[in-house]
Amino acid sequence: MTIAATQTFPGPAWEELQDVRVLESWPPEEALPGVEVLLEAVVQVRPAELDLLPDLRLVANYGVGYDRVDVAACRERGIAVTNTPGVLDAAVADLTLALILACRRHLVESDRFVRERRWERGWAKPELLGRDLAGSTLGLVGLGRIGREVATRAAAFGMQIVFHRRSGGLPLDELLRSAAVVSLHVPLTPETHGLISRERLALLQDGALLVNTARGAIVDEEALVHELVSGRISAALDVFADEPHVPERLLDLPNVVLAPHIASATVETRAAMTRVLVDNVLAFLRGEPLPNPV
Ligand code: DGY
Repeated sequence: MTIAATQTFPGPAWEELQDVRVLESWPPEEALPGVEVLLEAVVQVRPAELDLLPDLRLVANYGVGYDRVDVAACRERGIAVTNTPGVLDAAVADLTLALILACRRHLVESDRFVRERRWERGWAKPELLGRDLAGSTLGLVGLGRIGREVATRAAAFGMQIVFHRRSGGLPLDELLRSAAVVSLHVPLTPETHGLISRERLALLQDGALLVNTARGAIVDEEALVHELVSGRISAALDVFADEPHVPERLLDLPNVVLAPHIASATVETRAAMTRVLVDNVLAFLRGEPLPNPV
């Protein structure tokens, strides 16, 4: 059986797969008959790409989010899709707290301040004053595995937690009005695309912090840039609507911390994701039930 991959994946589990053909480009320049398994990350797998893989039976997606894969089109063609849930919750939650701390305590700005030799006085002048986490309200949009890990960590910092999810919690608009920090933890689906619209961004309190480690397109990015340029709110963004493109106007703003989609980027987590990816492929090759079908 021919296995193709859009890249190699880190960690020892990768060695367990034999004869993987690593593709030089995506989409492939010509049709690839005979490829039955595709291992992919960060690429579009839509009907146009599926047409080039006429014998495909499995798309194994590296990552918990599979919004770039047209699952309905795969299903119509009898192609199974798997993802890698459960192993990256802690890493994403850690980064979420790191971003909250970085913004609330002006960490990135402070680093620049020192490197640019702008620190001319002692510590007791009111420069770079941040805000406490303890006693402030964190609003979680989405309370799945990652949202719950974030809640545990934030509670340890003394934050008050409120949440919104489809089946309960605060109504979304109320959460946006009441939280000092809002963090997004929902998958990108047709229902969540643009969920944090221009009108909803306007509900955020003056001085609120919006953290996004989920998917850029959950927020109206144009409207967010507008709010950030005005200085009314701040943001910590690990994800963008059209990665790796980052809106130019964000680059010089002091009230936004930017990261290149690194929430799951630890050695341990990325290796664990490869383990799950490979386990799905091995199960498929043995004709066993897939551990993580989507
Ligand atoms: C995922 O798994 O979907 C993440 O975005 C990778 O960090």
